[in-house]
Amino acid sequence: MDLIEATAETARQLVAAGKGILAADESSPTIKKRFDSIDVESTEENRRDYRQLLFTTEGIEEFISGVILFDETIRQKTDDGTPLPELLVRRGIIPGIKVDQGKIDLTFFPGEKITEGLDRLGERLEEYRSLGARFTKWRAVITIIGDTIPSPVCIEANAAALARFAALSQKAGLTPIVEPEVLMDGKHTIERCEEVTLAALDAVFSRLREHRVVLEGTLLKPNMVLPGKECPRQSGPEDVAAATLRTFRPVVPAAVGGIVFLSGGQSPEEATANLDALNRAAPQPWELSFSFGRALQQPVLAAWRGKAENADTAQQALYRRARLNSLARRGEYSPDMEKDS
Ligand code: 13P
Repeated sequence: MDLIEATAETARQLVAAGKGILAADESSPTIKKRFDSIDVESTEENRRDYRQLLFTTEGIEEFISGVILFDETIRQKTDDGTPLPELLVRRGIIPGIKVDQGKIDLTFFPGEKITEGLDRLGERLEEYRSLGARFTKWRAVITIIGDTIPSPVCIEANAAALARFAALSQKAGLTPIVEPEVLMDGKHTIERCEEVTLAALDAVFSRLREHRVVLEGTLLKPNMVLPGKECPRQSGPEDVAAATLRTFRPVVPAAVGGIVFLSGGQSPEEATANLDALNRAAPQPWELSFSFGRALQQPVLAAWRGKAENADTAQQALYRRARLNSLARRGEYSPDMEKDS
């Protein structure tokens, strides 16, 4: 199998029926924020303990096809000295790696962001491959403020970076997860989110084509089309699913290896209900799966609180959320299931 075929094969495995991705690739500042919320100090040892807890949860391989790791995590080991990526592989879970180096201000465009990390990315990818990674992730951040932000320059610059990242990943035999995230911060309407998401996806797929990226070996990690968190008019799952699919149909090619949604600050229950509604809509040309960070981990962190004696309850919380999202991925979830313990 050549390297490009390998990227398509990995993409297929990542969106296998009933399975999705656990995003556990919080950067050091982000994991600190999550730990602060449960009064746990963000030390390297605590971060390792927490990730080890996630990855040793019995049975999650039924629902989790892959895990996205952070640079520090891909180098860490379990208590018995097994590298964390090797632990995942033994359990039939594919290790992936966040390769972007975070967002910075976009010069001359106040309020807008661009993602860093392209310099010497080719060399870093070779190292990540040798450490066990089979797929990669790059997150671009698009903010909505009023009618003028995002600017076309921000959308284009981020799409170009995503395409460079995707091409380099495929050259290294790694499946790129292309993540143009339109943030749900703010009071914008769902219609405004639809308009911006359409523009962002259109730019991304144009640039991917120009850069000769093979779509079958690429996964898209988009936001769902949602109203801003502070918008007075919120939307239910059917409306979110309809708006999201209406937005994707004209611009997301059927050839793409799959769609793995981010949760982006929705509650775990909302994210699952919306994913379920998306999968209940008539058959689509793409697999509609998940690559959730917060929507999978929030209840785990709340149960764990940094205490070894809470590990079992925390792992049960992860197993439960992963199972519910697996059902949602098949369109078989019901909010009533949230009542079962
Ligand atoms: P959330 O699901 O918490 O948005 O995280 C997904 C992710 O990987 C963001 O880059």
